[in-house]
Amino acid sequence: MRSLIACATLAASLLLAPLSLASEREDDYINTLTELGYPAPKDAELVHIPPTLDALEQSDMHPELKRVIRRGHDLFTNTQQLRGENVFNNMNCSSCHLGEGRMPFSAPVWPAAVTLPGFRGKNGHVNSLEERIAGCFTFSMNGKPPAYGSDTMLAIAAYHQWLAKGVPMYPEKPIYGRGFPAPERPKALSYARGEKLFADKCSICHGDDGQGLAVRGKTVFPAPWGDHSNNWGAGIVRLQTAAGFIKNNMPLGQPLSLSDQEAWDIAYFMNSQERPQDPRYTGDVKETLEKFGPTFHKHSMYGQKRESDGKLLGDHANTGEKDFLKPDTIRPRTFD
Ligand code: HEC
Ligand code: HEC
Repeated sequence: MRSLIACATLAASLLLAPLSLASEREDDYINTLTELGYPAPKDAELVHIPPTLDALEQSDMHPELKRVIRRGHDLFTNTQQLRGENVFNNMNCSSCHLGEGRMPFSAPVWPAAVTLPGFRGKNGHVNSLEERIAGCFTFSMNGKPPAYGSDTMLAIAAYHQWLAKGVPMYPEKPIYGRGFPAPERPKALSYARGEKLFADKCSICHGDDGQGLAVRGKTVFPAPWGDHSNNWGAGIVRLQTAAGFIKNNMPLGQPLSLSDQEAWDIAYFMNSQERPQDPRYTGDVKETLEKFGPTFHKHSMYGQKRESDGKLLGDHANTGEKDFLKPDTIRPRTFD
């Protein structure tokens, strides 16, 4: 299976794998994952196989509901259709949430539907599913979230909730394959090793300078840094999240082929490159770091000097392709 997947053509390989995974029973599903090198679920963990679009067609849900869920799926996998309105970089939601948001160890998105409303340390208040989705628009898509309650937001939320079909609300068990579990952090990280590894194993798709590849306005390979990438406030700028993403998912089609040290070195190099400003920017990088260090940037390279040339990372007012900094949806809430 591993060699089969590794040999399959680029992006197609990842899209096919989870679709066929999800159509199999739980044992086969777990076997396929463990063959690829992912850990088997622990006894106490909740395993959920999200439904496929085929199952949606065959279900007896109302045709109009099916249409809206399909629309959500289409927005999730081709988020570029919202370019210039809600999305201001080259990403689709599925650029980071592989397998159309279903793939374990690739931050499958359905857990949000069964654990929210919930408290998020990142913004210090209780968030709804819509606000969680808005978070990825604001930071990961360097964008402006669709309005709460809008057709676009409802369709995307419906896709998340449908993927969670059958899972109890607020499950007590920890969720198998949630997030981008990080390998153990090695004692020392090397920028030089990360740079070389990126050139050897990643640049063929993501470009020599992390610019990715877009052909006629369609993203083929997203940009891991630079103006077309996620901004400094996105979850993946945290080193452990990037290392977890890379270890479990990259190079595409060869998950878990890098050592823990290699995944961390590449994450360290990748996250030492520039990207659009954090929308929570106060106008001063040191002040922003002080304010959001404890809840977020203590895990990133923001506000630190780059090892290779001493450049102070994040010290700029570049917002990438958008001409604004703060979308109003990231306002605080008090519930008073
Ligand atoms: C640049 C990478 C990236 C992109 C693009 C991205 N996300 Fe995310 N997303 C993340 C990261 C990182 C997390 C946090 C995972 C963790 O907690 O370890 C996350 C978490 C989530 C969660 C919560 C999952 C959970 O376990 O609770 C949802 C829901 C979500 N994203 C939806 C979206 C949607 C919708 C889009 C497109 C509008 C999107 N994401 C685009 C990186 C991304
Ligand atoms: C065979 C081509 C290919 C190779 C090689 C590859 N990637 Fe990717 N990568 C992709 C594709 C395609 C996506 C988006 C997933 C999708 O759309 O299905 C992606 C997504 C990503 C993302 C999330 C989106 C972004 O651009 O920030 C990161 C980070 C990333 N890759 C890093 C790496 C690293 C690091 C390596 C080397 C260890 C690597 N990739 C090797 C094709 C590749």
